[in-house]
Amino acid sequence: MDWRTIYKDKIMTADEAVRHIKSGDHITVAEVGSQPYALTEALERNYEHLENVEVHYLLSLGNPPAAKPGMEKHVRFHGMFLSGATRPLIAENRGEFMPCFFHQYPKMVLSRGEIDVMMISISAPDKHGFCSIGPGVDHIPTMKNHAKLIIAQMNKNLPRVMGNSFVHLRDVDIIVEENRPIPELPGAPITDVERKIGEYCASLVNDGDTLQLGIGGIPDAVVTFLKDKKDLGLHTEMAADGIVDLIKTGVINNKKKTLHPGKCIATFAAGSQNLYDFLDDNPNFELHGVDYVNDPNVIAMNDNMVSINSCIQVDLAGQINAEVVKGMQFSGVGGQVDFIRGARMSKGGRSIIALPSTAAKGTISKIVPFLDHGAYVTTSRMDVDYIVTEYGIAHLWGKTLRERAKALIAIAHPDFRAGLAEEYKARFGEELTI
Ligand code: COA
Repeated sequence: MDWRTIYKDKIMTADEAVRHIKSGDHITVAEVGSQPYALTEALERNYEHLENVEVHYLLSLGNPPAAKPGMEKHVRFHGMFLSGATRPLIAENRGEFMPCFFHQYPKMVLSRGEIDVMMISISAPDKHGFCSIGPGVDHIPTMKNHAKLIIAQMNKNLPRVMGNSFVHLRDVDIIVEENRPIPELPGAPITDVERKIGEYCASLVNDGDTLQLGIGGIPDAVVTFLKDKKDLGLHTEMAADGIVDLIKTGVINNKKKTLHPGKCIATFAAGSQNLYDFLDDNPNFELHGVDYVNDPNVIAMNDNMVSINSCIQVDLAGQINAEVVKGMQFSGVGGQVDFIRGARMSKGGRSIIALPSTAAKGTISKIVPFLDHGAYVTTSRMDVDYIVTEYGIAHLWGKTLRERAKALIAIAHPDFRAGLAEEYKARFGEELTI
């Protein structure tokens, strides 16, 4: 029998579906390409009678939920990671920011109260009635078991990703059928500085390592220098376009992985249609819950784990600010600390923070004596391992404050080395030859 006949009572329009939301509800929404846009747009049309609703949400590739000015008095955005679309919500006091290690996100949201409503996307069901939840898996597998009401937008364009990424139609309370293209995350051309950084990072990667690659130009640049490596594995938070060619050419074959051998593992994917097509029905690539993939203990089960992430600035002791620009919350901790700690605990593991030496067209050094006023420490100086800029590699793990400062000044932009050397002299009482 056709699923529409079996589940006919669950099928309704998006506007009818969101009218099940009540004042005081806690809502979680699937992220990136799995955002159920038909539902979040319907919420924007139907919020005025609601009071004190919390919407917990991560990254949007389009119009984020609860971002419409005025809506915050009724339905308020709560996030632990910001993007261009959600930054103004925090800057303008129209939403709330919750500091959180990504692997603890489901637990932390649940600590605020029960999940009354979960809004997800689902693919068309298979012959057993199972639907994939698409590329934004992260908090859904755990939280769906706690949600009192699950509203799903069924979208036949959603890639049918493998892993802990399925929900049965019987467990979905409301189904809204609406097909939309999956929003893409546009890539940017790799700069010469990023290329140089990518080359240094790749020099720290050995054949047989398992990689975590963050988002942006630097990971994309690293990928271009990995083409001659052998038997790499992938255990990452986010899957992006860069890895597709490495998998297709067999550079990433996961043969040496000590956890999930033979499989690429991630918790969400965001990129082009090419990436989504690659993930569709691909048994070689599994997406699992973030409380599993990003758990440092799980990450550490991968021998020779190498994490590569970026930051806003690093001070001379090695403290990393990866989330605040000019006193404003720019992004969040995300999975940075999860992977830095997991990689460090892994047998043979390493972690890399890679950053251009300057920002704002070369006018600001990203290696600084002290973090900016209002900045937060994302990664502590006890956790930090390798720092890479376009001027080289500083290995801080096991190094004294004096050795750290010296190593960091050596990879700072030449225009800022003299100023940093003055700070070094004031701090350590010795002249530094630069
Ligand atoms: N001082 C002032 N401005 C700075 C700055 C500094 N030290 N460093 C960066 N900026 C500005 C840049 O000029 C840029 O401004 P623009 O948007 O006006 O051009 C902006 O801040 C973003 O910098 P950029 O270097 O382009 O950021 P990115 O896209 O490479 O992202 C992070 C870098 C740190 C924000 C990002 O990696 C992050 O959020 N990390 C934390 C989470 C994480 O690591 N997760 C890992 C798992 S995916």
